[in-house]
Amino acid sequence: MTTATAHPNIALVKYWGKQLVRGNFPATANVSITLSDLVTTTTLTDAANDRVTLNGAPADDPKINSFLGLLRESFDIGPLHIDTRNNFPTGAGLASSASGFAALITAINAHTNLGLDTQALSGWARQGSASAARSLYAGFVSLAPPDWQAEVIADAQHWPLATVVAVTDEAAKSVSSSVGMEYSRRTSPYYDHWVGSSGQDHAAAVQAIHERNFDALANTAELSCLKMHSVMLTSQPTLAYWNPATVACMDTVRRLRKNGVAVFFTIDAGPQVKAICLPQYTDTVSQALADTDGVTRTIQCGMGAGAQVLASA
Ligand code: DP6
Repeated sequence: MTTATAHPNIALVKYWGKQLVRGNFPATANVSITLSDLVTTTTLTDAANDRVTLNGAPADDPKINSFLGLLRESFDIGPLHIDTRNNFPTGAGLASSASGFAALITAINAHTNLGLDTQALSGWARQGSASAARSLYAGFVSLAPPDWQAEVIADAQHWPLATVVAVTDEAAKSVSSSVGMEYSRRTSPYYDHWVGSSGQDHAAAVQAIHERNFDALANTAELSCLKMHSVMLTSQPTLAYWNPATVACMDTVRRLRKNGVAVFFTIDAGPQVKAICLPQYTDTVSQALADTDGVTRTIQCGMGAGAQVLASA
């Protein structure tokens, strides 16, 4: 039996769209921070047939099935019971696939003695879900050309930012990221500009992180988020992930920032808002978001660890 954990990560410069090559490579350069507090815990046991349980209930996840199929083209991996648990809403724009595939490949590597190093694990995780490549690592993580290997550009101690997640709806999203990205590539009139300008956003974010320049990072991250959502909204069918509370939270964050609080927002493929702030503002940001109409709860996170094996026997 082997247990591994991984944390979700939040992209500050977004991945949305895939390269038209095998291997699930992003079309846009992206940068994330790995979160603490939210965690996926995955336990593997040998079984007669493959079986997946998610938060205790049987699950049939096509992405996990095809990931196992892909791994078995290269490695001898017997049938497994995969028990995976999230301490946060699954499939609701909180990066459960990132922590999920990072924990899964980390557990499989230990359980079946594949002997892969972190970089190789990250490459495999990317094939399960590209954002998962980043959750192998702690700190500020880049996934960018030319080699599209996730790498740490600064560790958590360099700039320990805090994240407050404003949960506005715990339901799983109706359109998965993979399907949504394909709609966007095929139909959004803004897609080419989005892809073409991502290198610039990535470079600006990397520089802001190195210089610990909060305003520069805030402007770049919010712009990347809003460009991605513009592409989503102009896809056909439209990808409208926001609800009224999402918009209200964006207004709350803008108001705080205008009043001198170092905070910015980012939103992924779901209606939750993540407010990234300097740690001394965590309670102020949390309270303001909790008081915003439609917010059901807030979750405070710091910077989390990379994926790790907890126990293997
Ligand atoms: C909006 O990594 O879930 O969260 O590779 O198809 O599994 P697949 O997509 P996924 O997409 C994440 C998109 C995002 C932005 C980001 O995390 O960079």
